[in-house]
Amino acid sequence: MKALVLESAKQLRLRDYPIHETLGPEDVKIQIKACGICGSDIHYYLEGAIGDFVVKEPMILGHEAAGIVIEKGKNADNLNLGDLVCMEPGIPSAFSPETLTGNYNLDPDVTFWATPPIHGCLRETVVHPARFCFKLPQGLSPAEGAMMEPLAIGLEAAKKGRIAPGDTALVIGAGTIGIMAAISAAACGCAKVFISDIKTEKLGIAGSYPHIVPINTRDLNLVEAVMKETDRQGVDLIIEASGSPKVYPDFFRCAKRGGKAVLVGMMNGTVPLDVTLLQVRGISIETIFRYTNAFDRAAALVKSGKIDIKRLISKTFSFDHAVEAYQYAAAGYPDVVKVMIELP
Ligand SMILES: NC(=O)c1ccc[n+]([C@@H]2O[C@H](COP(=O)([O-])OP(=O)(O)OC[C@H]3O[C@@H](n4cnc5c(N)ncnc54)[C@H](O)[C@@H]3O)[C@@H](O)[C@H]2O)c1
Ligand SMILES: [Zn+2]
Repeated sequence: MKALVLESAKQLRLRDYPIHETLGPEDVKIQIKACGICGSDIHYYLEGAIGDFVVKEPMILGHEAAGIVIEKGKNADNLNLGDLVCMEPGIPSAFSPETLTGNYNLDPDVTFWATPPIHGCLRETVVHPARFCFKLPQGLSPAEGAMMEPLAIGLEAAKKGRIAPGDTALVIGAGTIGIMAAISAAACGCAKVFISDIKTEKLGIAGSYPHIVPINTRDLNLVEAVMKETDRQGVDLIIEASGSPKVYPDFFRCAKRGGKAVLVGMMNGTVPLDVTLLQVRGISIETIFRYTNAFDRAAALVKSGKIDIKRLISKTFSFDHAVEAYQYAAAGYPDVVKVMIELP
């Protein structure tokens, strides 16, 4: 079938690729209708690797997708033919200790689309377990459905942040993930969410949402700015979503005493931690790795109108122009959040 294949670093081709998938009793076959481009896809495209995950064989890209159920296994009774669904890209093993204790995202044997050697879903059809496919509420488009994957990361950060009604939050980084975390925090009960970045354009997009207040730290000191905005109290919840190690010396100083921190941004290497500061201020730290049980909730929040996801789709390309779409996304234009590919 036609697929977007990463042959090796920087070598992308839209070409026929032989895929032999069998439909098991718990599976559905999905005709892919939309697929977003993620930061990780761009890393594989440009560098051919992320850490220990190295593209050694041609690999189909894409993991943020939505499509239509066109075939189903005999036990796939949660879905019907013709349903428009979004898909969770990671499939854990059913009986791993992590899955059995509810942390299926942490299963070391999870197979995740477009993470070598597993192919992604930027192709005509894909076979996937029905329980990892979620029927989209009426009125959501395939492109909105494809946005549920990055939104699920934002919601996971909000969930781990144990937001109480009326809390204040600060998100560092107004990239796709930071904006997802900020709009999730606002939808989950924060009265005000500050978001910091060094790029004016990204902050403009984030600040177009209600209850989200941008702070440009290109010229401003972050801690000072947050203290000024919060009567020198700090915020209840701080979320790190830039992945920049430079953020850490200031990051924890932005939280209130007794506040919570959620670490989303990933980086190569380590950062020093001021343990005593964390102890004296009673700051608890949570981390997230992807998400659990978030896709249907993400879609429900979009359907309810609490989250407008459409405005984060900056540009859409047709499948025939998928290589161009990747080149465009890789250029890193400051006013571009999500690049979407739509399939016929
Ligand atoms: N934990 C998880 O499960 C998970 C999942 C997806 C992505 N991530 C991580 O989340 C991070 C963000 O991903 P993304 O796709 O939004 O990346 P991105 O590059 O689009 O966004 C990062 C943003 O941080 C900003 N930034 C950089 N340095 C900064 C600084 N010193 N102060 C303020 N802002 C700064 C950049 O200008 C950019 O807008 C990455 O580290 C990624 O690896 C984690
Ligand atoms: Zn992604």
